[in-house]
Amino acid sequence: MKLGLGTGSTAAHLVELLGERVAQGFDVVGVPTSEATRELAERHGVPLTTLKDTPELDLTIDGADEIDPELRLIKGGGAALLREKIVAFASKRMIVIADKTKCVPHLGAFPLPIEVVPFGKESTRRAIARLAQELGGSGEVGIRRAEDECPVVTDSGHIIVDAHFGRIDDPRQVSDALNRIPGVVEHGLFIGLASLAIVAGPDGVITLEPGQGLVEQPRKIA
Ligand code: A5P
Repeated sequence: MKLGLGTGSTAAHLVELLGERVAQGFDVVGVPTSEATRELAERHGVPLTTLKDTPELDLTIDGADEIDPELRLIKGGGAALLREKIVAFASKRMIVIADKTKCVPHLGAFPLPIEVVPFGKESTRRAIARLAQELGGSGEVGIRRAEDECPVVTDSGHIIVDAHFGRIDDPRQVSDALNRIPGVVEHGLFIGLASLAIVAGPDGVITLEPGQGLVEQPRKIA
């Protein structure tokens, strides 16, 4: 199986478990969505490839910051949204794994991460802020900074702008509008990519499909 490997604390569990399966003989090759995941996968003995050598994947498994009932996602809390989206789009299927706190009725409580070219970043940030205000958000739009106050730089050399759009009733509208702003490389709205969510809560694990809400009673997955 050719597998896209997500980024973040949830996806890290996947990579570790995958390493155990590989040690037992499971035949898989992975494309990591970040340098952090690449390092983790190497440490756990998961064979890796690249999209250059393996441009089409069977499945991507990744975490999310928010999941709505249509399985539209906000991603990018870990600053890996560009590679995550490229890898998910190159996959026949995307499954999102998360804990129950990530499931929301509407996207937008989590500020939307947007990957931006460093050149002209203040102009781009202002354009995003204007858009957020037009669409009814607070307009609070900030460049993500590390502990040393320097802007966070992504694996692809871009910066991240976190934008408060407020409740996002029409994710497609926000997506299209962001894609029209020069300087925006990609944003963290994942629309029509995830076909299944596997969600863990205190009562067990549930699976969700787009638009169907809970498709099964809570059950343990071996
Ligand atoms: C990485 O850029 C993100 O898209 C993560 O997948 C998302 O932030 C979820 O991360 P956690 O699993 O750490 O909550």
